[in-house]
Amino acid sequence: MTSALNDIATSIRTIPDYPKPGVQFRDITTLLGNARAFRRTIDELVQPWAGAKVDQVAGIEARGFIIGGAVAHQLSAGFVPIRKKGKLPFDTVSMSYALEYGTDEMEMHVDAVGKGDRVILVDDLIATGGTAEGAVKLLRQRGAIVEAACFIIDLPELGGAAKLRALDVPVRTLVTFE
Ligand code: PRP
Ligand code: ADE
Repeated sequence: MTSALNDIATSIRTIPDYPKPGVQFRDITTLLGNARAFRRTIDELVQPWAGAKVDQVAGIEARGFIIGGAVAHQLSAGFVPIRKKGKLPFDTVSMSYALEYGTDEMEMHVDAVGKGDRVILVDDLIATGGTAEGAVKLLRQRGAIVEAACFIIDLPELGGAAKLRALDVPVRTLVTFE
């Protein structure tokens, strides 16, 4: 592992049994509060797209807003918020997505992306991939090209990254927790 990736990995705090027994919660607030680790995280995430034409970065509420905003700035791209139902003020399109137990809905403004826009999807972490899969479907429904999805953290045992790759979305992750 490079020193940058090691810096990133060690700046993430693990909270056992949160929000319920058996879950190891990967807390990125410690990474965000560490100026060097935060800078390195954004630099590493955008590295494949340095100099590429990216129209929009789509971030998934809530932690994906923090990372996605910084990624958009770094790539000189726009930012598109994908939010939980009922939060966006203008006309929206919605998509249901799978949660551990049951389903929920996410929304995006109808005019947030244009046909053929090149979009990178960003979130802090991919677990089952239900959330990211819903976001890819929403973006594609509006005609966007999902160039890639990137995440700081991958939980590979839960299969999310594999699920996105099966949808032909290239996936970039920086740190893996078994
Ligand atoms: C977390 C995380 C991802 C999602 C990943 O968000 O930030 O968005 O779960 O899980 P999945 O791959 O199994 O779908 P959460 O739903 O907890 O929302 P929050 O960011 O608002 O806390
Ligand atoms: N979202 C889903 N699983 C998670 C985990 N283990 N830590 C932080 N966020 C998560």
